[in-house]
Amino acid sequence: MSRYGLEAQAGDVLDGGSLARVFLGADAVIHLVGIISELSECTFENVHAGGTTNAVAAARQAGVARFVHMSALGTRPQARSRYHQSKWAAEEVVRRCGMDFTIFRPSLIFGPEDQFVNRFAGLIRFSPVVPVLGSRTARFQPVAVESVARAFVASLAEPRAFGQTYDLCGPQSFTLARLLDEILEVMGRRRLKLRVPCVVARGQAAFLEFVFPRLLGRPAPLNREQLIMLQEDNVGNSEPANQLFGLEPLQFKEGIGYVKS
Ligand SMILES: NC(=O)c1ccc[n+]([C@@H]2O[C@H](COP(=O)([O-])OP(=O)(O)OC[C@H]3O[C@@H](n4cnc5c(N)ncnc54)[C@H](OP(=O)(O)O)[C@@H]3O)[C@@H](O)[C@H]2O)c1
Repeated sequence: MSRYGLEAQAGDVLDGGSLARVFLGADAVIHLVGIISELSECTFENVHAGGTTNAVAAARQAGVARFVHMSALGTRPQARSRYHQSKWAAEEVVRRCGMDFTIFRPSLIFGPEDQFVNRFAGLIRFSPVVPVLGSRTARFQPVAVESVARAFVASLAEPRAFGQTYDLCGPQSFTLARLLDEILEVMGRRRLKLRVPCVVARGQAAFLEFVFPRLLGRPAPLNREQLIMLQEDNVGNSEPANQLFGLEPLQFKEGIGYVKS
């Protein structure tokens, strides 16, 4: 039992059989599982589409009535990235699940343990130069982890959310370069921002995708799917979720004080 009064039980979405017994007696399943980088059989298709199929089947088998699903902003049919394509396939599984479902599509999520803002903050701490990857114009609408968590919890007992899909976005949108400026301002640092040409970034990502799994047995810290996503706008309309769940999304700068430490 954790300090939050929760009981942890292990399960693997690639192994449907491991889930049904975990879900027994549950009123709802909140399905958060996802990856941003692939490793051996943990591909986007297997984890997102296959894993969601297994989770839905196990929830139904366990008699669960409510299914709340974590998707991602930018998920759509014929998306450019395989990440978003597999998230769309997962959404389609959820839409056909026969339970009272809700789907959330957050933009980039920030919070004390996030992997995006913290990665840039880490670079800023030790390097005089910070790379800017992706498009000059693509915009992001980062959302605080507190808003995302609040929406998931509030949706559980909200019948108006049944069968619905909601964007979760912050109140501001930024290009990647502007987002870095915001992080630099909060950290009180100045750094040279170096724009990395697409072809160079793709080469680096391909190299990391080859080396990391083979030599270190770990997913690559940067991959070509992420670069595709950094070239697209990632903005949405959070008003329906904000109103229904009473969310008051934090300004980006207000929510990233953790980068100072
Ligand atoms: N971070 C963002 O900006 C963002 C934005 C939009 C949507 N999302 C979505 O939010 C969800 C959580 O992402 P995150 O950023 O919080 O990533 P994360 O910290 O890596 O969380 C992913 C979780 O999925 C679990 N998981 C991975 N493979 C699994 C498997 N085969 N079986 C069971 N559990 C497995 C991981 O467990 P272990 O730690 O035990 O491996 C981890 O708890 C994902 O669906 C992601 O697509 C994230």
